[in-house]
Amino acid sequence: MEQSAGPATGWWTEAVIYQIYPRSFADSNGDGIGDLPGITARLDHLVELGVDAVWLSPFYPSPQADAGYDVADYRDVDPLFGTLADADKLITEARSRGLRVIVDLVPNHTSSAHRWFTAALAAGPGSPERDRYVFRDGTGADGDQPPNDWQSVFGGPAWTRVTEPDGRPGQWYLHLFDPGQPDLNWDNPDVRAEFLDVLRFWLDRGVDGFRVDVAHGLIKQADLADWQEPQEILSGREVDKPRPPMWDQDGVHEIYRDWRALLDSYPGERILVAEAWVEPAERLARYVRPDEMHQAFNFEYLLASWTAPAQYAVITRSLEATDTVGAPTTWVLSNHDVVRHASRLGLPVGTPRPHGIGIGDEQPDTALGLRRARAATLLMLALPGSAYLYQGEELGLPEHTTMPDEARQDPTWERSGHTLRGRDGCRVPIPWEADAPSYGFGPTDASWLPQPPLWAEFALDRQRGVPGSTYELYRTALRLRREHGLGRGTLAWLATGDEVLSFRNDGLTVLTNFGPAAVPAPAGELVATSAPLTDDGLVPTDVTVWVRSA
Ligand code: NOJ
Ligand code: CA
Repeated sequence: MEQSAGPATGWWTEAVIYQIYPRSFADSNGDGIGDLPGITARLDHLVELGVDAVWLSPFYPSPQADAGYDVADYRDVDPLFGTLADADKLITEARSRGLRVIVDLVPNHTSSAHRWFTAALAAGPGSPERDRYVFRDGTGADGDQPPNDWQSVFGGPAWTRVTEPDGRPGQWYLHLFDPGQPDLNWDNPDVRAEFLDVLRFWLDRGVDGFRVDVAHGLIKQADLADWQEPQEILSGREVDKPRPPMWDQDGVHEIYRDWRALLDSYPGERILVAEAWVEPAERLARYVRPDEMHQAFNFEYLLASWTAPAQYAVITRSLEATDTVGAPTTWVLSNHDVVRHASRLGLPVGTPRPHGIGIGDEQPDTALGLRRARAATLLMLALPGSAYLYQGEELGLPEHTTMPDEARQDPTWERSGHTLRGRDGCRVPIPWEADAPSYGFGPTDASWLPQPPLWAEFALDRQRGVPGSTYELYRTALRLRREHGLGRGTLAWLATGDEVLSFRNDGLTVLTNFGPAAVPAPAGELVATSAPLTDDGLVPTDVTVWVRSA
């Protein structure tokens, strides 16, 4: 069976897009927080690495209740990260190097410090200002119980009660995330008009697209019915099971059709990428129908177990599902919300998705994790479609799995009553130079999350030009991927057993060995391998090879 990335054409159908988490990429002024001038100064790294585009996590003014995913002003830059002029400069400098720029759009909720929310509190119940959010009276005799049983993704109730302008306890507002992130009411026309305008604001500044946060959450079931299940951002449902009333409601699609029409009215190919934790793949494919978004993150792929059958199943299913709507498939292994794949894959196969790892938790096998991560990446970068990389994975960075709990900043840790460690471990500022303060993250020792001591060995300057380093492996893979046009190629399976997966994508044969015994490499010239072959030229366990056919 042959599978391609679909009939769509355009830069984004095969692009490798690198996620920058601005707080942790590069700090220009030594305050311990990464910033936009820091990113601009390091753009050449991304050119040398060989990616096509960057996606920047939010840098907008924000009280930082959720590391910037609580936006107080969608049309400015937080002084922590720089100025609007710095953003313009970053966009210009990136584009002059041939890198496209995607920014993050957070439409499900604003910050509680947004002027709309302040106005809603002041205006009182029943006001047009309140109608932009999801305010309801409480239940129980005094209205002191939340309107329904929904839980926040970060733990605890999804509702917070406000104090009315007259000083009395009043209505409740919905926040699927932190109380500092009130959910917007997308049935309100002000909300729709505002976001079209925000899109225009950034399109006019030259961005190439938007990564849309919680794209599956904007519309809630109208009756806000109780949902007895534990909260998970993942809708995680088979088609025939009831859909959670807060996720993946059909009404979201109309919003994206409006946005697509706006983007299409601009020159160049500007794109929308859905962050939608929606399963199964057929449901997710609805977000990338021809008149909606261009891409959606493939979290089913990220969550798949490290076994040949599981990887085969998720790859074929992903390609089939996007094929039904003519969109390219995407691939991703790490981001700022999940345990880095170099650590995740060091946990026993079949371990459920960890919500962070800390002191006292089962620790991953670091060497095994890195070995599998390299194999997984080399497999991923050979697949047709578009791939997302998360800053630092090109260095083989593991999760910081022994971070002191006092240093944690993710609201998940507090709100879950110290049961879920949260996402700090994948957000640690990245190492550039082994012997510099903060490993070259900035000019001082300051770092908003502590960097682990072993960061030195992962630093870019320890890996650059070193054959076999993770960094050089990524560079080789990205170069060959481009040369062979793998992103727009066609996948033809050669072996799909319990232990070995192998396929051809145009001129390359790819093989991953998941089994315990070493296996023969495909015939031809070995052009990339995630770890050395055996002395007999066999492909050992947990290794991917790329072979150029004779
Ligand atoms: C998804 C973002 O990736 C995550 O970091 C954030 O906490 C939630 N959306 C809420 O905005
Ligand atoms: Ca800074």
